[in-house]
Amino acid sequence: MIKEPDTLMLIGFMGAGKTTVGQEIARQHHSHFLDLDREIEKKAGMTIPEIFKKEGEGAFRDLETQVLKNAQTFNGVVATGGGVVDRPENLAVLKDSPATLIYLHGNLESTIKRMLAEGQRPLLQERSVADFFALWRERDPKYAQVADFVVETVGKTPERIAAEIVALFSANEDDLAVTALRSQIDAFDRQLFEIIASRMDVVLAVAEYKKKVGMATVQPNRMAAMKKALKTDFKGTPHITDEMIDQIMEILLTTAIKRENQAIDEG
Ligand code: S3P
Repeated sequence: MIKEPDTLMLIGFMGAGKTTVGQEIARQHHSHFLDLDREIEKKAGMTIPEIFKKEGEGAFRDLETQVLKNAQTFNGVVATGGGVVDRPENLAVLKDSPATLIYLHGNLESTIKRMLAEGQRPLLQERSVADFFALWRERDPKYAQVADFVVETVGKTPERIAAEIVALFSANEDDLAVTALRSQIDAFDRQLFEIIASRMDVVLAVAEYKKKVGMATVQPNRMAAMKKALKTDFKGTPHITDEMIDQIMEILLTTAIKRENQAIDEG
């Protein structure tokens, strides 16, 4: 299904990283890159927020359909706009597309984080979080329906996502199903380490407090109580065993204590 394509098209919600990842794939794969939002701006001679403000969303969507049709045989990587699946006409173009379509799948939290860092989109300015969530739920099955392949992006750097996509070109048919599942596992691993890093930030705040009040770093009763509480809360949860809780908490607690002591010594 995935062959080294003439046209690779990235689809997904705004803030999924389509432009950044697309540029990175083009760099790693020595190919060209086309951003449909930029093409629309060139055609209109205005920025996207200006088009929305002066001409309205309908005019923007008309231009989007035109540039989407023109990009079907572009030789390289194409980043689409998040709303490209809104019009049935565009969905039909995507379904019949000669391009390989990759859905960059994220989650709401990572998407909002990214959009806040990047600056505003017209649709974000006008909508409440509830509207935004509704839009997400409406579009997600449409991206999935037309995609040849779904890549999980949460917690991954653009370089990593691009490398996963480039690796698809050399994967055989049997590998592809397992590759999609591994993409999800890799995303979970990255989220786990992000959480561990945030956990450590809190550990350091506790270290500061302990230092101030002269409390001992190691609190054996609390450590035992934490493990016990987790075992109670996760009793009956598939895959989570008492042994797993003991092992993982042991690693978290010993590394936290080491880091706390270091912080206290450093003053
Ligand atoms: C839109 C997403 C934007 C841009 C326009 C509308 C949308 O593209 O086309 O603001 O409807 O989701 P990105 O997905 O690149 O942000």
